[in-house]
Amino acid sequence: MGREDSVSNGLITTATLACVAVLAMASVLLGWQKGRGGGRVQALIYEFQHRCALPLHLLRKISEAMTLEMTAGLTTESGSSMPMLPTFVEKMPTGNEKGVYYAVDLGGTNFRVLRVLLGGREKRVMKQEFEEVAIPHPLMVGTSVELYDFIAKKLTDFVSRESSEFSTHAAAGARELGLTFSFPISQHSINSGLLIMWTKGFKIADGVGQDVVQALQQAMNRQHGPKLRVAALVNDTVGTMAGGRYFDPDVMIGIILGTGTNACYFERADNVHKLQNGKPLPKTGSMVYNMEWGAFWSSHIPTTHVDEQLDAESINPGQQLYEKMIGGMYLGDIVRRMLLKLAREASLFSGEVPQQLMTPFVLGTPEVSKMHADESIDLRVVAKTLAKIGIHRTDLHTRRAVHDVCDIVTLRSARLAAAGITGILRKIGRDGKNGEYTRTVIAMDGGLYEHYAKFRIYIHAALTELLGEEAVKYVVVEIFKDGSGIGATLLAACHSQHG
Ligand code: BGC
Repeated sequence: MGREDSVSNGLITTATLACVAVLAMASVLLGWQKGRGGGRVQALIYEFQHRCALPLHLLRKISEAMTLEMTAGLTTESGSSMPMLPTFVEKMPTGNEKGVYYAVDLGGTNFRVLRVLLGGREKRVMKQEFEEVAIPHPLMVGTSVELYDFIAKKLTDFVSRESSEFSTHAAAGARELGLTFSFPISQHSINSGLLIMWTKGFKIADGVGQDVVQALQQAMNRQHGPKLRVAALVNDTVGTMAGGRYFDPDVMIGIILGTGTNACYFERADNVHKLQNGKPLPKTGSMVYNMEWGAFWSSHIPTTHVDEQLDAESINPGQQLYEKMIGGMYLGDIVRRMLLKLAREASLFSGEVPQQLMTPFVLGTPEVSKMHADESIDLRVVAKTLAKIGIHRTDLHTRRAVHDVCDIVTLRSARLAAAGITGILRKIGRDGKNGEYTRTVIAMDGGLYEHYAKFRIYIHAALTELLGEEAVKYVVVEIFKDGSGIGATLLAACHSQHG
């Protein structure tokens, strides 16, 4: 045999081995597929993946739609999927704020009260204390008096425990408070506004249309506690942006990626043409706009049957559709619904349809995040997490399928959020497309971004695709954990009656 022959023989041998390996793998897979409906599982997952896919050209369209919808929402009252709400926040903290201020932060699942001692430019936040409690579910769907009484009681108790370390620095008279209320509100001034609707699982019919500051003030009066005045009513995005700006002057945008999702940014007054409560808004300067981007919609957003079901069975059907594909409140439930479909239509769990999977919200986004992060060969974290919700004895193929579903749902969520962010950057001329690069900081808060590592990786990858390698270097996302609370105290200070 000549040298060539031996080389070609070698190649043949390598190729044959590779073929054998592939055939062996395929037959294992086929065995599983034949016996267990694995082919059907795969087919359904591919279909789901295909329907959720957001290639760059689609992402661009969604991002452009975000910019257009922003402009439309600033032009007419109902011309856009997003309300683009004026916040009456025209100035941001400077660092010179001094004194004792309080905040109440009602957002997703938790409720916080906090107090800070602000020491001015040199000393900044000298001391802070807070308490956090989970909102009991009945309060989320009860009456507004019950909810505001609960808040007022916690707040009054907290204020009455103010130590001398704070009180010696406090101005005489009522303590001032920033109220972070993370729902869509139509504001009339910095410290008044009517609740437009509830989101994130809250549903308190008599609360809609109420002035939230008045409602809280009345509840505080019922407590007969220390005197308190709400100096600023803010959305959590606005609080986070203010908290961020206190530490970094380049903060231009506030974003929450948590239970719910939303964004706010500074808009020049001359770009706003709509009337507010029948009156034109001031035409000078600029104001922070609460976009309520959870309500954003574009026909380019890919939806599936699972999304339609989730929306139809939610307590606010037809509303907050972008939020329902991105927010931490929903990702777990999208995964649950897809697993249920795989169990029913393709026998994912050995032919059984686990009863547990029929319970809405049994699978939370933190569990999805844990399973998604599992890199062990046998996917044991996936197995453990499934076992925790009562699904035992899963084989590797099943776990892999679960892992894939987590990946598809999270990838779509992160890419959608990135398209939204790019839409805002374009609107404020910070997407680098005019050849100018200016450092732009996004003040970010929310557990989804903070705790879900793969979500963060996906969002940054999509931002890089959309903005390009150069421009993305100037877009900095900074996490300001619980920034909305501190931000609310700072905005209370900025709008204090004590001057
Ligand atoms: C609310 C927003 C809020 C966001 C994040 C959404 O459901 O409508 O006002 O900013 O959640 O908490």
